[in-house]
Amino acid sequence: MKPAQFITLDGIDGAGKSTNLAVIKAWFEQHNLPVLFTREPGGTPLGEELRSLLLNPETQVSLRTETLLMFAARQQHIEDVILPALNEGIHVVSDRFTDATYAYQGGGRHIPLSDIETLENWVQGSFRPDLTILLDVPLEVSLNRITRSREKDRFEQEEAEFFTRVRHTYLQRAAKHPEKYAVINSNREKGDVRNDIEQTLNRHFQLEPKL
Ligand code: TMP
Repeated sequence: MKPAQFITLDGIDGAGKSTNLAVIKAWFEQHNLPVLFTREPGGTPLGEELRSLLLNPETQVSLRTETLLMFAARQQHIEDVILPALNEGIHVVSDRFTDATYAYQGGGRHIPLSDIETLENWVQGSFRPDLTILLDVPLEVSLNRITRSREKDRFEQEEAEFFTRVRHTYLQRAAKHPEKYAVINSNREKGDVRNDIEQTLNRHFQLEPKL
Protein backbone atom coordinates (compact mmCIF):
# COMPACT_ATOMS: atom_id res chain seq x y z
CA MET A 1 0.00 0.00 0.00
CA LYS A 2 1.19 3.51 -0.80
CA PRO A 3 2.09 5.91 2.02
CA ALA A 4 -0.53 8.52 2.94
CA GLN A 5 -1.52 10.37 -0.22
CA PHE A 6 -2.30 14.02 -0.77
CA ILE A 7 -5.11 14.33 -3.30
CA THR A 8 -6.66 17.57 -4.52
CA LEU A 9 -9.92 18.25 -6.31
CA ASP A 10 -10.07 21.36 -8.45
CA GLY A 11 -11.81 23.00 -11.38
CA ILE A 12 -13.71 26.15 -12.37
CA ASP A 13 -16.70 27.24 -10.32
CA GLY A 14 -19.74 25.18 -11.27
CA ALA A 15 -17.67 22.14 -12.33
CA GLY A 16 -19.45 19.91 -9.80
CA LYS A 17 -16.98 19.71 -6.93
CA SER A 18 -19.58 19.21 -4.19
CA THR A 19 -21.28 16.26 -5.89
CA ASN A 20 -17.98 14.60 -6.68
CA LEU A 21 -16.47 15.18 -3.26
CA ALA A 22 -19.28 12.97 -2.00
CA VAL A 23 -18.22 10.32 -4.53
CA ILE A 24 -14.63 10.50 -3.28
CA LYS A 25 -15.80 10.27 0.35
CA ALA A 26 -17.88 7.20 -0.45
CA TRP A 27 -14.91 5.57 -2.20
CA PHE A 28 -12.65 6.03 0.86
CA GLU A 29 -15.39 4.66 3.14
CA GLN A 30 -15.88 1.65 0.89
CA HIS A 31 -12.18 0.88 0.97
CA ASN A 32 -11.93 1.57 4.67
CA LEU A 33 -9.01 3.95 4.26
CA PRO A 34 -8.32 6.68 6.83
CA VAL A 35 -8.84 10.07 5.23
CA LEU A 36 -9.21 13.72 6.12
CA PHE A 37 -11.28 16.07 3.97
CA THR A 38 -10.36 19.72 3.98
CA ARG A 39 -10.60 22.79 1.75
CA GLU A 40 -8.87 25.91 0.48
CA PRO A 41 -8.93 28.70 1.11
CA GLY A 42 -9.67 27.49 4.64
CA GLY A 43 -8.99 24.34 6.59
CA THR A 44 -7.73 26.11 9.75
CA PRO A 45 -9.35 28.78 11.97
CA LEU A 46 -7.12 31.45 10.39
CA GLY A 47 -7.69 30.05 6.91
CA GLU A 48 -11.46 30.10 7.35
CA GLU A 49 -11.30 33.76 8.44
CA LEU A 50 -9.23 34.57 5.38
CA ARG A 51 -11.73 32.62 3.25
CA SER A 52 -14.61 34.78 4.50
CA LEU A 53 -12.67 37.90 3.61
CA LEU A 54 -11.54 36.59 0.22
CA LEU A 55 -15.00 35.45 -0.86
CA ASN A 56 -16.87 38.49 0.47
CA PRO A 57 -17.90 40.73 -2.47
CA GLU A 58 -17.46 43.76 -0.17
CA THR A 59 -13.75 43.12 0.37
CA GLN A 60 -11.40 45.61 -1.28
CA VAL A 61 -8.15 43.78 -1.97
CA SER A 62 -5.37 44.25 -4.48
CA LEU A 63 -4.47 41.39 -6.81
CA ARG A 64 -1.11 40.75 -5.18
CA THR A 65 -2.59 40.86 -1.71
CA GLU A 66 -5.25 38.37 -2.79
CA THR A 67 -2.50 36.05 -4.05
CA LEU A 68 -0.49 36.42 -0.84
CA LEU A 69 -3.56 35.73 1.31
CA MET A 70 -4.23 32.51 -0.61
CA PHE A 71 -0.68 31.42 0.17
CA ALA A 72 -0.89 32.66 3.77
CA ALA A 73 -3.94 30.48 4.35
CA ARG A 74 -2.18 27.62 2.55
CA GLN A 75 0.96 27.80 4.66
CA GLN A 76 -1.04 27.50 7.88
CA HIS A 77 -3.12 24.71 6.35
CA ILE A 78 -0.10 22.68 5.30
CA GLU A 79 1.68 23.11 8.61
CA ASP A 80 -1.26 22.62 10.98
CA VAL A 81 -3.48 20.17 9.13
CA ILE A 82 -2.14 18.53 5.98
CA LEU A 83 1.36 17.45 7.00
CA PRO A 84 0.38 16.26 10.50
CA ALA A 85 -2.35 14.05 8.99
CA LEU A 86 -0.06 12.63 6.31
CA ASN A 87 2.61 11.96 8.92
CA GLU A 88 0.07 9.91 10.88
CA GLY A 89 -0.69 7.83 7.80
CA ILE A 90 -4.00 9.57 7.07
CA HIS A 91 -4.75 10.37 3.43
CA VAL A 92 -5.75 13.98 2.80
CA VAL A 93 -8.22 15.21 0.18
CA SER A 94 -8.31 18.96 -0.30
CA ASP A 95 -11.15 20.76 -2.05
CA ARG A 96 -8.85 23.06 -4.08
CA PHE A 97 -5.13 23.76 -3.65
CA THR A 98 -2.35 25.63 -5.47
CA ASP A 99 -3.71 24.83 -8.95
CA ALA A 100 -6.53 27.22 -8.07
CA THR A 101 -4.01 30.01 -7.46
CA TYR A 102 -2.40 29.39 -10.85
CA ALA A 103 -5.82 29.30 -12.51
CA TYR A 104 -7.63 32.16 -10.71
CA GLN A 105 -4.87 34.58 -9.70
CA GLY A 106 -2.56 33.61 -12.60
CA GLY A 107 -4.96 32.93 -15.47
CA GLY A 108 -7.91 34.94 -14.20
CA ARG A 109 -6.16 37.95 -12.68
CA HIS A 110 -2.95 37.96 -14.78
CA ILE A 111 -0.53 37.58 -11.87
CA PRO A 112 2.61 36.22 -13.60
CA LEU A 113 2.75 32.44 -13.25
CA SER A 114 6.45 32.71 -12.43
CA ASP A 115 5.58 34.82 -9.34
CA ILE A 116 3.08 32.19 -8.24
CA GLU A 117 5.74 29.54 -8.75
CA THR A 118 8.13 31.51 -6.54
CA LEU A 119 5.53 31.66 -3.76
CA GLU A 120 4.69 27.99 -4.26
CA ASN A 121 8.33 27.03 -3.81
CA TRP A 122 8.73 29.29 -0.78
CA VAL A 123 5.57 28.10 1.00
CA GLN A 124 5.61 24.45 -0.05
CA GLY A 125 9.24 23.58 -0.68
CA SER A 126 8.98 20.40 -2.72
CA PHE A 127 5.54 19.48 -1.33
CA ARG A 128 3.03 18.86 -4.14
CA PRO A 129 -0.20 16.83 -4.47
CA ASP A 130 0.28 13.17 -5.38
CA LEU A 131 -2.81 13.36 -7.57
CA THR A 132 -5.08 16.16 -8.74
CA ILE A 133 -8.56 15.37 -9.97
CA LEU A 134 -9.52 18.20 -12.30
CA LEU A 135 -13.22 18.48 -13.04
CA ASP A 136 -13.84 20.14 -16.35
CA VAL A 137 -17.01 21.54 -17.90
CA PRO A 138 -17.56 23.86 -20.86
CA LEU A 139 -17.78 27.51 -19.93
CA GLU A 140 -21.54 27.77 -20.60
CA VAL A 141 -22.21 24.98 -18.10
CA SER A 142 -20.06 26.66 -15.46
CA LEU A 143 -21.73 30.04 -16.00
CA ASN A 144 -25.21 28.49 -15.92
CA ARG A 145 -24.51 26.78 -12.62
CA ILE A 146 -23.01 29.94 -11.14
CA THR A 147 -26.02 31.97 -12.26
CA ARG A 148 -28.31 29.56 -10.46
CA SER A 149 -26.42 29.91 -7.13
CA ARG A 150 -28.31 32.18 -4.76
CA GLU A 151 -25.60 34.58 -3.65
CA LYS A 152 -22.50 34.98 -5.76
CA ASP A 153 -19.16 35.27 -3.97
CA ARG A 154 -16.41 37.68 -5.03
CA PHE A 155 -15.03 35.25 -7.63
CA GLU A 156 -18.39 34.10 -8.97
CA GLN A 157 -19.17 37.73 -9.84
CA GLU A 158 -16.43 37.77 -12.47
CA GLU A 159 -17.33 37.86 -16.15
CA ALA A 160 -17.13 35.05 -18.73
CA GLU A 161 -13.64 35.96 -20.03
CA PHE A 162 -12.23 35.58 -16.52
CA PHE A 163 -13.54 32.00 -16.30
CA THR A 164 -12.34 31.23 -19.83
CA ARG A 165 -8.81 32.11 -18.70
CA VAL A 166 -9.22 30.17 -15.44
CA ARG A 167 -10.34 27.03 -17.28
CA HIS A 168 -7.61 27.36 -19.89
CA THR A 169 -4.92 27.64 -17.20
CA TYR A 170 -6.18 24.54 -15.38
CA LEU A 171 -6.19 22.53 -18.61
CA GLN A 172 -2.77 23.79 -19.59
CA ARG A 173 -1.28 22.70 -16.26
CA ALA A 174 -2.90 19.29 -16.54
CA ALA A 175 -1.61 18.84 -20.10
CA LYS A 176 1.91 19.70 -18.95
CA HIS A 177 1.95 17.07 -16.18
CA PRO A 178 -0.44 14.34 -17.31
CA GLU A 179 0.99 11.86 -14.79
CA LYS A 180 -0.20 14.05 -11.88
CA TYR A 181 -3.66 14.97 -13.17
CA ALA A 182 -6.86 13.13 -13.93
CA VAL A 183 -8.98 15.45 -16.06
CA ILE A 184 -12.60 14.39 -15.80
CA ASN A 185 -15.32 15.76 -18.04
CA SER A 186 -18.08 16.38 -15.52
CA ASN A 187 -20.59 17.56 -18.09
CA ARG A 188 -22.03 14.04 -18.30
CA GLU A 189 -24.41 11.73 -16.44
CA LYS A 190 -23.53 11.67 -12.74
CA GLY A 191 -23.02 7.89 -12.85
CA ASP A 192 -20.46 8.14 -15.66
CA VAL A 193 -18.51 10.82 -13.83
CA ARG A 194 -18.64 8.72 -10.65
CA ASN A 195 -17.25 5.70 -12.53
CA ASP A 196 -14.35 7.76 -13.85
CA ILE A 197 -13.52 9.08 -10.39
CA GLU A 198 -13.68 5.61 -8.85
CA GLN A 199 -11.46 4.20 -11.59
CA THR A 200 -8.99 7.03 -11.13
CA LEU A 201 -8.77 6.28 -7.40
CA ASN A 202 -8.56 2.51 -7.96
CA ARG A 203 -5.70 3.06 -10.38
CA HIS A 204 -3.92 5.55 -8.14
CA PHE A 205 -4.12 3.25 -5.10
CA GLN A 206 -3.65 0.13 -7.24
CA LEU A 207 -6.81 -1.41 -5.82
CA GLU A 208 -9.35 -3.73 -7.38
CA PRO A 209 -12.77 -2.19 -8.09
CA LYS A 210 -15.31 -2.94 -5.29
CA LEU A 211 -18.48 -4.54 -6.63
P1 TMP B 1 -15.16 27.23 -3.57
O1 TMP B 1 -14.24 26.45 -2.68
O2 TMP B 1 -16.55 27.25 -3.09
O3 TMP B 1 -15.02 26.82 -4.99
O4 TMP B 1 -14.75 28.78 -3.49
C1 TMP B 1 -13.44 29.18 -3.44
C2 TMP B 1 -13.20 30.29 -4.42
O5 TMP B 1 -11.88 30.79 -4.21
C3 TMP B 1 -13.29 29.85 -5.87
O6 TMP B 1 -13.99 30.81 -6.63
C4 TMP B 1 -11.85 29.83 -6.33
C5 TMP B 1 -11.16 30.82 -5.42
N1 TMP B 1 -9.74 30.49 -5.15
C6 TMP B 1 -8.76 31.29 -5.71
O7 TMP B 1 -9.08 32.25 -6.40
N2 TMP B 1 -7.44 30.99 -5.47
C7 TMP B 1 -7.06 29.93 -4.68
O8 TMP B 1 -5.86 29.69 -4.50
C8 TMP B 1 -8.10 29.11 -4.10
C9 TMP B 1 -7.72 27.95 -3.24
C10 TMP B 1 -9.42 29.42 -4.37
